Amino acid sequence: MTSKSIDENHKIDATTRFNLYPKIDIQEYEQLHNSRIIPTILKIDVADFFETMKKYDSYFKNWSNNRPDQIGIRQGLPLVNLTGRYTDDNDITIGPLDYYNKNNPDNRYNETDIRVFTKILYEKCFDPLQILHDYIIRSSILKWKKGANFFPHKDLQPPTPHLRLWGTTDPDNIKLRFENDQGELIEVENVEAGRIYIIDTAITHDAHCVNDIGYQFFIAVASEAYDIMERIKQ
Ligand SMILES: [Fe+2]
Repeated sequence: MTSKSIDENHKIDATTRFNLYPKIDIQEYEQLHNSRIIPTILKIDVADFFETMKKYDSYFKNWSNNRPDQIGIRQGLPLVNLTGRYTDDNDITIGPLDYYNKNNPDNRYNETDIRVFTKILYEKCFDPLQILHDYIIRSSILKWKKGANFFPHKDLQPPTPHLRLWGTTDPDNIKLRFENDQGELIEVENVEAGRIYIIDTAITHDAHCVNDIGYQFFIAVASEAYDIMERIKQ
């Protein structure tokens, strides 16, 4: 069964869907992630992106309400969600999915269940992502202001039905850190603005916005994108 056909069968509960999705095993996962972040050949033109965002600025919504201190400074806009609309006030894909699932045990979602493109993904500035279109799942643009952050966390554990990519418009402002073997969080250096990276979110990581406004590209793909992910490594 492919990810798409599983997703179309809404009679199957979330756990069964998760079990049915094709997965990348631990060995394949480690082969792909030979570094914490890996530059790809994909790059978003930052000036073009900023110009495009002018028409969507008022549609960014709070990244859930799970942390009151982050209201108003940590926001998101959907590229791929459940409805294809970016205008809804409530969008469960704009926020931590584990938090949503914990509060909605009878209506849980897997990352790979979320596959409807909003028109924002078709904007010209996102043309470099076209190579991922057959596989792209829940993805968003994050807009952070000073003080916005994600606490240290992991997003997945192989065997996994999905993989993650990441990028930022403003590496001086958005700081990403990974835990080392001693349990210390070490900042990633030499991040290129607009560059899309394959990111190893099976390792504990956090992020914070140190100043002004910074955007991040929060992108995921289903496991079937594995070969493409290998091919787009820079
Ligand atoms: Fe993460």
